[in-house]
Amino acid sequence: MIPLYFAPLQGYTDDAYRRFHQQEVGGATAYYTPFVRWEHGGVRSKDLRDVRPDFNEGVPLVVQVIAASIEEFRHLLEVLTPLGHRRIDLNMGCPFQLQARHGRGAGLLGNVEVVREILNEMNVRSDFHFSVKLRLGWDAPNECMQLLPLLNDARLVQVTLHPRLGIQGYKGTADIEAFAKFAEECRHPLVFNGDIRTPQEATRIMERFPTLHGLMIGRGWLARPSLGRELAEGREWSRTERMALIKRLHDRLHAHYAAIVPGDAALHQKLKTYWDYMEEEVGRKCLKKLKKAGNLKNYLRAVSEVV
Ligand SMILES: Cc1cc2nc3c(=O)[nH]c(=O)nc-3n(C[C@H](O)[C@H](O)[C@H](O)COP(=O)(O)O)c2cc1C
Repeated sequence: MIPLYFAPLQGYTDDAYRRFHQQEVGGATAYYTPFVRWEHGGVRSKDLRDVRPDFNEGVPLVVQVIAASIEEFRHLLEVLTPLGHRRIDLNMGCPFQLQARHGRGAGLLGNVEVVREILNEMNVRSDFHFSVKLRLGWDAPNECMQLLPLLNDARLVQVTLHPRLGIQGYKGTADIEAFAKFAEECRHPLVFNGDIRTPQEATRIMERFPTLHGLMIGRGWLARPSLGRELAEGREWSRTERMALIKRLHDRLHAHYAAIVPGDAALHQKLKTYWDYMEEEVGRKCLKKLKKAGNLKNYLRAVSEVV
């Protein structure tokens, strides 16, 4: 099996989720963290907490950063160095306006000069291993092709391409042909990302791209936490096995957040997002019940009825 990377999903794959997922089922070669950003002269304590080594014990981690300039990028490396992180991914794919309009994420793709500066910095920082995760472009799919010569010359351990445009957000489908075009000319180990939800879909991508270095899976893995393990084992889990894992993982998160989130209402809000991508696994009716439970007590009752 080729390496499987758990995609970064801001608001979902936090340190607790990654730790419990790794302990309960695993199957990921590494977990990418949601991006750490430099803002108002510092890094948010929430972001720092998420990458603290003691909160990520035993979890293979790639720490992702997002930056609009060489200065931001350097600041972020400075902050991450004392924490011992040496495997860093640069986000060039975030489509959210809040980041993109400041030239971060997918907003960086069209800014060739800044990309060149950051890649040059990577070339001289031999104490780190760097990768990039990018989209096809902000509004034109040739942006990634224009950057490719620069990326090919950079000191990168891998490149992950999510073949959508920034302006698409998460709409439409991943553009397999555009990925193929990029793959033909990319000289780095290449990872495919986008829309994989089942073992069959993962197999289809691996067959279409036999030289692929890895798969990165996000929403599909949240929806089916056993997905990576099923791929590694070459065996589809039964629905009973999958649901048992979904509940186990939920119980771990519940116990964890109950100790740190103040008040039932906040705990309820925090826990219910766990089901956001699970409609196919738990069924529409069940999901509705989970989402409509107005308080923690009703919510936990709905969870206990998930089969
Ligand atoms: C809610 C949400 C948060 C995300 N946060 C990040 C992030 O912090 N960094 C990043 O590179 N991508 C982020 N992504 C994009 C995913 O990592 C991934 O590239 C995208 O969802 C496509 O893969 P998938 O179809 O397997 O989910 C996010 C996506 C979603 C839906």
